[in-house]
Amino acid sequence: MIGVLDSGLGGLTFLKEFSDALPGYSFVYLGDNARAPYGNKSQEIIYKYTRQGVEFLFDKGCELIIIACNTASSEPLKKIQQEFLLEKYPDKNVLGVIVPTVEGAMQSINYNSKKNKIGIIGTKATMESKSYDQEFKKLSPKVEIYKKATPLLVPLIEEGWLDRRETKMILRYYLRDLKNNKVNTLILGCTHYPVLHKTIQGIVGSQINVADAPKAVALRLKDYLTRHPERDEKIEKKRKRIFYTTDDKKRFASIGQRFYKAPIKKVEKINLEQ
Ligand code: DGL
Repeated sequence: MIGVLDSGLGGLTFLKEFSDALPGYSFVYLGDNARAPYGNKSQEIIYKYTRQGVEFLFDKGCELIIIACNTASSEPLKKIQQEFLLEKYPDKNVLGVIVPTVEGAMQSINYNSKKNKIGIIGTKATMESKSYDQEFKKLSPKVEIYKKATPLLVPLIEEGWLDRRETKMILRYYLRDLKNNKVNTLILGCTHYPVLHKTIQGIVGSQINVADAPKAVALRLKDYLTRHPERDEKIEKKRKRIFYTTDDKKRFASIGQRFYKAPIKKVEKINLEQ
């Protein structure tokens, strides 16, 4: 199975794309809703929570885990890959969403035309970490990065305030500096934001390319499995979709459908606190 881990519901936007790209594979999703949001917490706490989620998914038989959470894919993922994985699960792998999102965005950039200005929005923890900056600079040292923490968006989205005037006002406020700085690509660096993709595109205008992170990550996951047949062979392909949450099952299923864009019929509640 492929594990998909998020602090809560936003990772379901990625699971949807993974399911579409790899329909035959079995996926198990864990949303740590009881302790979400991660985005305002310290790196130490986010690492601890992420490690517990990863252990749970490996115990459930996952061969590969995708951390479908930008906040956990920044600093905590490095520590998971460089320390925890090597010590405890050397035969398995954990991947994040930041590297494939950056690779996907770079594909639409014209290296020869003008200066590449990239705008990124995300949680406080993701914006304070240097993860996006480092990945972009690796691919193109000339790229200029403009970041903006947008902490009010996750609660508004979870409340279902997608078309509300208030949400659009807050978005306009958050996006103003990026527009003024004339970014040509905008990265939605948080798993929740793809549900606002159209609204954001409407606000920034068609001259700014709003990158589609879930699609880019799904494409690269497919490519990773082709390049690693030894791992791919071990992954169960029985079309299972299993959902776990650390909080209320009903709320997970009802609000989760907005992100997953399909009914979520069965959810199991688990406890990650030892
Ligand atoms: N999943 C988180 C992210 O992509 C957003 C929600 C949270 O802060 O936990 O950054």
